[in-house]
Amino acid sequence: MEPLRVLELYSGIGGMHQALRESCIPAQVVAAIDVNTVANEVYAYNFPHTQLLAKTIEGITLEEFDKLSFNMILMSPPCQPFTRIGLQGDVTDPRTNSLLHILDILPRLQKLPKYILLENVKGFEVSSTRDLLIQTIENCGFQYQEFLLSPTSLGIPNSRLRYFLIAKLQSEPLPFQAPGQVLKEFPKLESEHPEKNTIVAENKIERKKIEPNICFDNGRQCSGKEAILFKLETIEEIDRKHQQDSDLSVQMLKDFLEDDIDTNQYFLPPKSLLRYALLLDIVKPTCRRSTCFTKGYGSYIEGTGSVLQTSEDVQIENVYKSLTNLSQEEKITKLSMLKLRYFTPKEIANLLGFPPDFGLLRTFYTKMVMLFKIICNHDPNNFTIFVLICEFIPF
Ligand SMILES: C[S@@+](CC[C@H](N)C(=O)[O-])C[C@H]1O[C@@H](n2cnc3c(N)ncnc32)[C@H](O)[C@@H]1O
Repeated sequence: MEPLRVLELYSGIGGMHQALRESCIPAQVVAAIDVNTVANEVYAYNFPHTQLLAKTIEGITLEEFDKLSFNMILMSPPCQPFTRIGLQGDVTDPRTNSLLHILDILPRLQKLPKYILLENVKGFEVSSTRDLLIQTIENCGFQYQEFLLSPTSLGIPNSRLRYFLIAKLQSEPLPFQAPGQVLKEFPKLESEHPEKNTIVAENKIERKKIEPNICFDNGRQCSGKEAILFKLETIEEIDRKHQQDSDLSVQMLKDFLEDDIDTNQYFLPPKSLLRYALLLDIVKPTCRRSTCFTKGYGSYIEGTGSVLQTSEDVQIENVYKSLTNLSQEEKITKLSMLKLRYFTPKEIANLLGFPPDFGLLRTFYTKMVMLFKIICNHDPNNFTIFVLICEFIPF
């Protein structure tokens, strides 16, 4: 098979390029395009031989696109216009203009690409922009399938539900195509290329090491029934967390943690401990879950991602139950016993599927929060993209 000529739009720090590389599919990224200078630095460091265009996509003309002569598009357009907690400006949000530009250019290209893979947030599937996208690719003759997938379905202990669309220029439907449905699971394919299946399977198994351990708490297996409400959590939430921690098909967090780190710089400051104690999503290294890390991680607490309890032998329930009637200082002392810390940027990168040697340019940034911002803001979801690419493209 001739190497695919891939155009990577909204390339960020290169999550899609990384996933493509790991898929072992013969491919060359002919150009990557992004306006963010910090992300571009990280991209250029990790993919020094790729042509990186630091431009706005809407500034690129039809002729320039034609010259790149690509046969695959990978893209993760900005998700802010579609997030459920945002304003949901959809087509009217100026951040959608670049995608509308691509949809305008696509039918007019001298040669249509053979494959398109698009990633966005949950919420995109019900947007008018999605309808325009579907209309455009259908008119161009693509077959397509939409998905809502989280890395947890690949055994990765991080919830990050995302929308994916894969489209192929051909007349017959894709083998796993389910018209009118957004699939919530990966397609199971009988490949005509068994050697490719072997590679995919090996990679999946390596990432999804199944371990016979269950999260034990003081000798007793976690169970929702015995849960004590000591934080601002509902019984349902606690039940869900216990179920996640007992799902042996998901790896433990400890497999993604760094060994030798200076933990001091990651401990939660006493002020945050006191103020947000009841809102924290606390996980232990033996847990099989973590919440989605967002760009505010390290600066804000609420809803930005889980924190890690490093003193595993301390009973969290006991700490929380004893807080009532304590002075502020005593509360801080109690809470500090849990030794709660942030995940490091590298650990988050591990959970997102970046290999150990992926450069985050640590030395460039004096503030840890900037690193969090780079890795979380750009929202790469490598494991999922990797499997979609592997299952979708014949080679
Ligand atoms: C969701 S992130 C992409 C994440 C990427 N897949 C990665 O692995 O980092 C969206 C990216 O689109 C870029 N972007 C947004 N609007 C753009 C535009 N009009 N032209 C070019 N890049 C744009 C942002 O700088 C950001 O890096």
